[in-house]
Amino acid sequence: MLVTHTIDNTREELDKLRNNNKRIALVPTMGALHNGHLSLIRLARRHADHVVVTIFVNPKQFGPAEDFDSYPRDLDIDLEKCRNEKVELVFAPERSEVYDQDNYLSIRIESINRYMCGGSRPGFFEGVLLIVNKLFNIIKPDVAIFGQKDIQQFLIISRMVKEFNHNIELLMAPVERANDGLALSSRNAYLSDHERATAPGLFRSLQYIKNQIDQGVNTPSLLIEHQKSELEAKGFKIDYLDVFSFKTLEPVNTLSKDSGYIIAGAVWLGKTRLIDNLLIEL
Ligand code: PAF
Repeated sequence: MLVTHTIDNTREELDKLRNNNKRIALVPTMGALHNGHLSLIRLARRHADHVVVTIFVNPKQFGPAEDFDSYPRDLDIDLEKCRNEKVELVFAPERSEVYDQDNYLSIRIESINRYMCGGSRPGFFEGVLLIVNKLFNIIKPDVAIFGQKDIQQFLIISRMVKEFNHNIELLMAPVERANDGLALSSRNAYLSDHERATAPGLFRSLQYIKNQIDQGVNTPSLLIEHQKSELEAKGFKIDYLDVFSFKTLEPVNTLSKDSGYIIAGAVWLGKTRLIDNLLIEL
């Protein structure tokens, strides 16, 4: 497995890998790799000849009061996991390799970041697009894989690919879950034992809302308020819990046939922010 730290070296190695039109798949990560990431790598493997993983905790997608400093990092363990998955190349740059000291340009997002995580984490998706745009330009993959757990991220990146004309196929991998339903996340490492036992409550609330909608509820607001109270009683602090349009990423009051929706929630358990979602097609 090749491990690169500079853009020039990455491009050189990729030129060799791309020999004879070999397909390259990219799995961008911030490290602290868990089975969710490994499922992205395995999906990537099915769609390309070579898999490239990037490991970079992107400072531009963290707010000033967020967990950039404490975000889990262990490059050696991550590299071992990539080696076991037979990843061909890992690009793990330093901050100074990726970001210039001077900063004159930024990416602005209209409306599709107003709600969900975009609503509660100002600047987050601008930071995500900045790094993903760079990684797309550095790696030039044929296909890139992102997880459904970060559904808004996937949909905003899809808009970027379309509007900035990246010639890249995007694939969304299903949410990988622990046996009790908790969506896997690097941030789960922050949970105490008690919080870890409580954490699957978010998934159960989403499932409950989905079941009710499947059974014909088409104005879910009361149902959602009730689930919020249940979660609060268990010790969760609600950031958001709602049904959003798959197309506009805005909350919807009345669901209609032939439309796609995202039942999504973000909650705090102590100092850990958890997100999860389920898709529903009526
Ligand atoms: O989903 C993540 O881990 C990050 O947002 C990403 C896509 C690697 C960009 O830093």
